[in-house]
Amino acid sequence: MVNYKCLNPIAAVGVNLFTDDYKQVDSVEEAEAVLVRSASMHEMDLPADLKAIARAGAGVNNIPLDKCAEKGIVVFNTPGANANGVKELVMAGLMLASRNVVGGINWVQSIKDDPDVAKLVEKGKSQFAGREILGKKLGVIGLGAIGVLVANAANGLGMEVYGYDPYLSLEHAWNLSRDIKYVKTKEEIYHTCDYITVHVPLLPDTKEMINKDTMAMMKDGVVILNFARDLLVNDNDMEAALKRGKVKCYVTDFPNEKTAGMEGVIAIPHLGASTEESEDNCAVMAVKQLKQYMETGT
Ligand code: MLT
Repeated sequence: MVNYKCLNPIAAVGVNLFTDDYKQVDSVEEAEAVLVRSASMHEMDLPADLKAIARAGAGVNNIPLDKCAEKGIVVFNTPGANANGVKELVMAGLMLASRNVVGGINWVQSIKDDPDVAKLVEKGKSQFAGREILGKKLGVIGLGAIGVLVANAANGLGMEVYGYDPYLSLEHAWNLSRDIKYVKTKEEIYHTCDYITVHVPLLPDTKEMINKDTMAMMKDGVVILNFARDLLVNDNDMEAALKRGKVKCYVTDFPNEKTAGMEGVIAIPHLGASTEESEDNCAVMAVKQLKQYMETGT
């Protein structure tokens, strides 16, 4: 019998893969295997019997990797399992930022009870005119599972796509459309692109990679999208860049106390992977990996 604990609910299609040999216990202290989505495990005491943690998602910054390594606890994540879900929301973010959709919706809400709403719309809609993404330059920083899908989708919509990844694997390079320009430095993207989207993990090297110095290299009126991790962006520097018009719009899937209320920010409540399909894929991959490890040690 394997005692496991799900720290967050996971999709039924994953839970159903557990056989009668697996028992969900009440607390982490009793568990040999843990399944987690976004709950932070940093403050938890890891029990002596814990052998494996499966994170149903890509980022592992909610797991104390150093402590796990010391104790010989194996950590799995589910790279790629929710990549399509995130890609689709990034593409929506590109459109939202380009077409003033959020401002337009809010304005319609504010006039919806006026008896002349249709007339007001005709008179006032020009304030929300946008621009098209066709032919614009998109820089994709990080060409892992999500970055590759975003690059290809944007390419399919007629954007001129620049991709940067210092660790681009052959497998991912092969999946990239031949029309994507692979550049050797992030700076080439900063200097060139109208839109920049980051798809890198949060690491000491990437923390606050979008800051006053990197934004100074960017074009005036650049649009920045962050569907990867909150701390990739220095919020104070972003606020200043938005105020100056250096950044036209910041689309983030990680609103916090600062960014949620900033002028020029489109803030989405971390919904990138919140689709039925992505949740099913992550749950299945996480449970399969956990079971395989508990049953075979590999
Ligand atoms: C991921 O890391 O997979 C996504 O940000 C979604 C999530 O945190 O579950």
